Amino acid sequence: MIKRKPTVGRDPAKGPPLANPDRCEVCARWHRKTTGRQPERDLGNQHQVDLFEKCERFTRAKELMAKGVYPYFRAISKHDCTRATIQGREVIMVGSNNYLGLTHDPRVIEASIEATQRYGTSCTGSRFLNGTLELHEVLEDRLARFMGMESTAIFSTGFMVNLGVLASLVGKGDVVFCDRENHASILDGARLGFGVTRKYRHDDLSELERMLAETPESSGKLIVVDGVFSMNGSISDLPGVVRLAKKYNAKVMVDDAHGIGVLGAKGRGTAEHFGLLDDPNGGVDLVMGTFSKSLASIGGFIAGRADVVHYIKHTARALIFSASPTPANTAAALAALGILEQEPWRMQRLHEISSRVRREFATMGYDTMGSETPIVPVLIGSDEDTFAFWKMLDLHGVFANPVVAPGTPAGKGLIRTSYMATHKDEEINQVLDVFGKLAQQRKAPLTSVVRG
Ligand SMILES: Cc1ncc(COP(=O)(O)O)c(C=O)c1O
Repeated sequence: MIKRKPTVGRDPAKGPPLANPDRCEVCARWHRKTTGRQPERDLGNQHQVDLFEKCERFTRAKELMAKGVYPYFRAISKHDCTRATIQGREVIMVGSNNYLGLTHDPRVIEASIEATQRYGTSCTGSRFLNGTLELHEVLEDRLARFMGMESTAIFSTGFMVNLGVLASLVGKGDVVFCDRENHASILDGARLGFGVTRKYRHDDLSELERMLAETPESSGKLIVVDGVFSMNGSISDLPGVVRLAKKYNAKVMVDDAHGIGVLGAKGRGTAEHFGLLDDPNGGVDLVMGTFSKSLASIGGFIAGRADVVHYIKHTARALIFSASPTPANTAAALAALGILEQEPWRMQRLHEISSRVRREFATMGYDTMGSETPIVPVLIGSDEDTFAFWKMLDLHGVFANPVVAPGTPAGKGLIRTSYMATHKDEEINQVLDVFGKLAQQRKAPLTSVVRG
């Protein structure tokens, strides 16, 4: 490694000592000289001066490309909901979150065209200032009524809901408790807030309870949990979380990105599924949802008590300092919500398909990791085998997603499949056929199958 002189903090008059006293001998010497103290750690001569150096050293993706098993950023040239064309080849799509199959519904498309014609292509500003349309308010009211909660606020993506809400609510002295397998946006949102984040083992409510018990009563407490875990398709033990929240005076926020339109008699998600939504003592304080799955658009919302939503609207930086959802996206979500309410057959069909797939996968010997929803993973194992398995699916015309660490615990790579109400039986048969064949081939090492 090239040793260079550090470029910051060389002159004590110009500010605090060097950036890397615990990583670089030069910095460490400077640190000792200027502060009279030892650096915390001395890792020898490494000194990372060039910010971009790590990019040169990043070879993981390039290695997959060289082996012909790179599964990311694949450009789709044509899409008709359950089928997509990639590099001239048609594949069956079982890698999307379009659970109700509404992205290509003519009513949703028409609504977004009309909204574009009426309001233009962009709001060119934030909800807070010039970017609020009547259409946004109509959608917020509809969502509040749908969820049976006092109020909602919509954001431009689901990711931003979690960033905005958590950073706004969790202040100094507060503690946010997160399941370790919560979505990245929750963990990032918690990190953005000024409070403390405690992560408990996936679904381990006894660890959550221990953490709650050791938190001072004077701290504000928020437990955040995915309603449906996005990688393994399992449903969280929300009643258990609520019971602990009541015992330790904590608030509960559910990220129901994969629950809305999927769970509950009316598609209102995990809280409805457990009968906690319409009960005034149900104990679920905030529900977050996205438009990018069942609601066939992009954007997200937070639903809860009116004063809490009001506070979020005036303090969440991800809402205030970013442009509002486009007219087309807002209208599409509104139209999709209407269809979700009017066409319960979609949810029924979705569950029929996913139960069948889970059952047949299990018969073939796959481990579906406790899935109870239209997200049906199959556990593969090492990264190498996971990418090899993905490649075989692709060669057989099935689009599914490989997930490896950090998306899953290391060594627990999986293939995530997910289904839509609009999948035809023939398409599901075809997918099952391919998985059946590969179940046989797994007995031989998959990596050699791909290379051969
Ligand atoms: C559980 C969960 N929360 C939040 C998000 C972020 O939603 P969006 O895609 O709308 O930004 C996702 C998206 O994958 C998700 O799976």
